Amino acid sequence: MPEQKILKGFSRLPRQQKRLLVSALFGDPDAALKKFGSFDHPDAAVSAVLQGISENTLTNYPLPYSVAPNFLINGKVYMLPMVTEESSVVAAASWAAGYWAGKGGFKARVSETKKNGQLHFLFTGNAAKLKAQLPQLEDYIRWHLRPVLANMEKRGGGLSSLALADRTGVIDHYFQMQAGFHTADAMGANFINSCLEEISLAMQAYLEQSPDFRAQDFEPLMAILSNYNEDCLVEVSASCDIRELEGAAPGMEVREFARRFALAVKIAETDVHRATTHNKGIMNGVDAVVLATGNDFRAIEAAAHAYAARSGQYRSLSRVSIHSDRFEFSLLMPMSLGTVGGLTGIHPLAAASLEMLGHPGARQLMMIAASAGLANNFAALRSLTTTGIQTGHMRMHLSNILMQLGAGPDESEQIRQHFADKKVSHQAVADCLKKLRETG
Ligand code: MEV
Repeated sequence: MPEQKILKGFSRLPRQQKRLLVSALFGDPDAALKKFGSFDHPDAAVSAVLQGISENTLTNYPLPYSVAPNFLINGKVYMLPMVTEESSVVAAASWAAGYWAGKGGFKARVSETKKNGQLHFLFTGNAAKLKAQLPQLEDYIRWHLRPVLANMEKRGGGLSSLALADRTGVIDHYFQMQAGFHTADAMGANFINSCLEEISLAMQAYLEQSPDFRAQDFEPLMAILSNYNEDCLVEVSASCDIRELEGAAPGMEVREFARRFALAVKIAETDVHRATTHNKGIMNGVDAVVLATGNDFRAIEAAAHAYAARSGQYRSLSRVSIHSDRFEFSLLMPMSLGTVGGLTGIHPLAAASLEMLGHPGARQLMMIAASAGLANNFAALRSLTTTGIQTGHMRMHLSNILMQLGAGPDESEQIRQHFADKKVSHQAVADCLKKLRETG
């Protein structure tokens, strides 16, 4: 591989030139160039949209766009769009959705949708006076923010609270102006960040005009939303009489299944190693819906894991309760989603996903994504506590193995049949293919 040089002005190069430059890093530059080209979208308008989403885009990176049917959520059936690279996620979600659909489905609710952000600043003036003047300062900030808030207020959102937090105990002169927002059906990141930057300007102007302070008393550091949305919560549960759990674990008595399942959740409530994987299983479902609807899965992930650690110990986001023969499995997590703005209206498939879901509002989408999370979590725990995860996983992985081994359609079909009742492993499939080829 040729040694790479520091490049100046790379981002300003036309795309074809970027491709040429990058393809020179490959053993076969022509093949690389061809590969980049082969993933271009044939529709020039769509291609332009996709290119415009990020910087230095060479081509597109397709992932499977799947659907999971039979999600019964609050009495309504949904076909869920899911985007994921993990082969078993959609199958697991679909299985769990169908399973719970026969038992009343998922019950979901959104308790709160407050978002928040902070202006982090240093203040070296008279802090007591600043605190005493908070009501006037708040009025001034709200007045200053009117133009930025106008549109959001028309949609039912806006600035819901302002509070001054004294953090001088942790860092000298460090304060925060903490702002709470409602962002209607938007995720609201840009809105919140714009407001926070305006809050900074408003504070600066207020302090400059006031005889009690000097402009140099105030040093704004950062104006940024927090992805930790502990007041933007969605809860979803699935429940049934314990006797109805038959079918979840063929060959296992229902109470035995429920006992083992509950223990699995308890372990994830107490052990960080297990809790991380357990929550990853929840995020398998959540992220797939979040991605398919053009939302920010990193924000959702960050909030989910911070919330899982809110007690000081990282724990499972889901819970199980078994009382008077009632089995209830539930999930509570923060989730800041949007169904307008951002990528939702720009990416053609994000827009299609929202249409498939019946144009949900943000609250509805939170309930849908959380249901996918609970479904995947249920399916994973059911496998783990019964057959083990690898049987199902490897069966789903079989297509990938066949592809890697270069099996043709007939060979693949024969191998699939062969492994219908056998344990799949890469080696076993490779051996089977070899034998098949040897025997003609
Ligand atoms: C794999 O993507 C997810 C699981 O590991 C989740 C879990 O262990 O609960 C199966």
